Amino acid sequence: MTDLHPDIKRILITEDQIQTRVAEIAAEIDQDYKQIDMVVLIGILKGAFIFTADLSRKIVTPHSVDFMSISSYGDQAEFDGAVRLIMDLRKPITGQHVIVVEDILDTGHTMSYLYQTLQGRNPASLKTCTLFKKKRDSLDVPLDYVGFEIPDVWVVGYGLDYADTHRTLPYIAELKKDVYS
Ligand code: IMP
Ligand code: MG
Repeated sequence: MTDLHPDIKRILITEDQIQTRVAEIAAEIDQDYKQIDMVVLIGILKGAFIFTADLSRKIVTPHSVDFMSISSYGDQAEFDGAVRLIMDLRKPITGQHVIVVEDILDTGHTMSYLYQTLQGRNPASLKTCTLFKKKRDSLDVPLDYVGFEIPDVWVVGYGLDYADTHRTLPYIAELKKDVYS
């Protein structure tokens, strides 16, 4: 094991575990959509860009990829529940089979906002996928594909950041509490 960055407490999920789980989710999606000609994956920037890229390359079902950018917590690990749309999709999704691809579900405000916003555009179907879900009270949002349930701590890596750092680590790591609180 190489030395961990001093901000990092421990590795929660290894690169191998992530890749195995992403392949399983892709297989589940292929199974669920085998009667469907075309799916739209909507990756949520920035956190889900790596997951979206890996998932997309493992899904065999014909699909296009689009992105939306949603405001985050800023540089603090706290959140007032207000979600802002920073960048919208390039194309309408009316009549399309849509899967929203998120990195992590924490309070659930972001997924709830996405679900309502996208449902309002009348897709043919709408499903949600998140690679990580924290074990904590969160808003009740429909989740179709969940990669891992993790403890209620701040995690980084595989696209997830803390103040735009540690995003490109290949694994998921727990940040030391004194770094984010
Ligand atoms: P929610 O709206 O509270 O569910 O938060 C969802 C968003 O917050 C995710 O899309 C992430 O961008 C960010 N987020 C929440 N928890 C973490 C974390 O532990 N590490 C990195 N980003 C996080
Ligand atoms: Mg995010």
